Amino acid sequence: MYSYINNQLHCENVDISKLSNEIGLPFYCYSSEILESKYSEIERAFNGKNLLTCYSLKANSNQSIIKTFASMGSGADVVSMGELKRALKAGIPNDKIVFSGVGKSLEEINFAITNNILMINVESISELMKISEQASILNQIAPISIRVNPDISAGDNEKISTGKKQDKFGISYQDILEVYELASSLDNIQIKGVDIHIGSQINNFEPFQEAFNCIAEVINKLKNKNIDIDIIDIGGGIGVNYTDEESLEINQYAQLIEKILEPLDKKIIIEPGRFLTAESGILVTSVIYIKETSDRNFLIVDAAMNDFIRPSLYGAKHKILPIKNFEMSKPENTYDVVGPVCETGDYFVKDYKTSKIEEGDLLAITCTGAYGSVLSSNYNSRPSIPEVLVKDKKFSLIRKKENIEEIIDQDALAEWL
Ligand code: LLP
Repeated sequence: MYSYINNQLHCENVDISKLSNEIGLPFYCYSSEILESKYSEIERAFNGKNLLTCYSLKANSNQSIIKTFASMGSGADVVSMGELKRALKAGIPNDKIVFSGVGKSLEEINFAITNNILMINVESISELMKISEQASILNQIAPISIRVNPDISAGDNEKISTGKKQDKFGISYQDILEVYELASSLDNIQIKGVDIHIGSQINNFEPFQEAFNCIAEVINKLKNKNIDIDIIDIGGGIGVNYTDEESLEINQYAQLIEKILEPLDKKIIIEPGRFLTAESGILVTSVIYIKETSDRNFLIVDAAMNDFIRPSLYGAKHKILPIKNFEMSKPENTYDVVGPVCETGDYFVKDYKTSKIEEGDLLAITCTGAYGSVLSSNYNSRPSIPEVLVKDKKFSLIRKKENIEEIIDQDALAEWL
């Protein structure tokens, strides 16, 4: 939890400004309490139903974050060999791992099969054939589900919508039965389930309702063809409240599942990423320069788009909190909060209103626990920043700061130079 104690922002019982002296700026900070309470919120909403939460690692794949969920019983949704290895290393049991993604390589397919994961979510006929072929070579049975593309528009950002027919994901609703029939005729394939994922940051329940109805129809059609499945994987996508937008109530989501999917009497898998981690994280950054011009005022901070790219990439909105709470008086000035990278798109927030601010002051960009550090890069040869996990009065460095030499050493000189 984040709160002000004596006007200083705290993560649980750790004073952020003291923490920044120990860690160095900028850095990501995560609250264990929030991670745990988000996971428990899901458990409570589904209250002992036949549900498996498979945390979607792409939101934040730090070992400590994965392990926090693993120790609460979570499974994992992975999309690469790297994520699969991270999940296993953090102690997620192999039979709680699902593997999604349109472009799984041969190596990834083999690794998934030999590690006996719960199921591979298939996204094309070519992939299905490849899995069958590889399973035969390995003399194993590959458990699969097939991802249906329901042609539903979800969320307000087309870059993260995945369930429309022009998107690259899944098999279209029209063709899905045929592909299931093909799968059931193949050697070494075990049909386990049906899968859907329509997008991310979805804050109204209608697209989910449409998607669940679509899944229910698919299952009924499969039943008529004597294809029986055990699992319905409904993907991720539950939105969070970044600024003051209305967000989806998890109970509303659970009720929808209860109404549409529970009567089908299958095991249900959900793959939340953002819902579990976004709110736990802040990006702590320091104001290096204040630049006031006749047109606009800027707070130039030491973090940049390479550390946190959501505003630049998606136009995403995030709130800023001052570490020292001087927001008591009426805001007087308006600033764009920008980073040092040489691009106009390198900003975090436009029109940040504050009463007073000085160079050296610290700010927290909030709700950055999901799709933050995982999307960072070394653009402008900037090393990746450290990450800290807090639990009550304790904190632990869960990723150290990269050093510049490490980055340069990844290059090699061509032999003729
Ligand atoms: N399952 C599948 C198959 C997915 O593709 C995704 C996200 C999830 C689960 C988790 O979705 P969530 O619960 O987090 O919405 N970088 C973007 C978000 C990309 C989401 C990609 N897929 C952002 O920062 O908004």
